[in-house]
Amino acid sequence: MEYVPGQKVLDNINLDIPAGATVALVGHTGAGKTTIAKLVSRFYDVTEGSVRVDGQDVRQMTLDSLRSQMGVVLQQNLLFTGSIRDNIRYGRLDAKEEEIIAAAQAVGAHDFIMALEKGYDSNVEEGGVLLSVGQRQLLAFARALLADPRILILDEATSSIDTRTEKVIQEAMSTLLRGRTSLVIAHRLSTIINADLIVVMDHGGIVEKGTHQELLARQGVYYSLYAMTYAA
Ligand SMILES: Nc1ncnc2c1ncn2[C@@H]1O[C@H](COP(=O)(O)OP(=O)(O)OP(=O)(O)O)[C@@H](O)[C@H]1O
Ligand SMILES: [Mg+2]
Repeated sequence: MEYVPGQKVLDNINLDIPAGATVALVGHTGAGKTTIAKLVSRFYDVTEGSVRVDGQDVRQMTLDSLRSQMGVVLQQNLLFTGSIRDNIRYGRLDAKEEEIIAAAQAVGAHDFIMALEKGYDSNVEEGGVLLSVGQRQLLAFARALLADPRILILDEATSSIDTRTEKVIQEAMSTLLRGRTSLVIAHRLSTIINADLIVVMDHGGIVEKGTHQELLARQGVYYSLYAMTYAA
């Protein structure tokens, strides 16, 4: 993959995500994690090689067909200006009120929404209520859950989240990921540890793959990343 001709940001990537599995991508900043997420969801196309879904090259699928199977939750721009209801409903425009509420309940967002003066009618973003990073993330999860995609691409928010919200997010993640094939750019240790496979990226390539225990035992890139980020 090249953003600028002649400058490869990803090279020699060979990654197979089995149906139903959760794969966590980890690595230092600039390693190429978001670039992979963008290739899979076709924000960009590969300059060499291919991305296939169920064996089919994504470039041969219509964007509609791809987007109907795939949900994408990115780090930024989680919400748009409008009500909380609209923001969740964006996952499936014909969703009924009960379904919107059920999705919010399933990810643990309903209580904080109801605590707002205008509840689901509260406006977010410009001129609206101020929501924490964790709350915004939960709304994006509710939206994704409502859309109910078979494949989920998720770039976890990095900002620190308080312990209580962290617990809610952790549970929301497991609700959201259950029964789906997912690629998660993981920053939170709980997400990483719960993944079926951890893929470690460095300088645009995959340098290690394995479970948390396997990768720690190897004492390689993952081990030093873990020691640096999570160990006190
Ligand atoms: N739109 C772009 N145009 C040019 N170069 C880009 C663009 N987006 C990313 N890059 C470059 O591609 C490389 C990989 O970036 P990427 O965003 O995939 O990293 P990342 O692993 O997601 O990092 P982070 O952990 O900081 O989110 C970096 O060297 C980055 O500067
Ligand atoms: Mg990134």
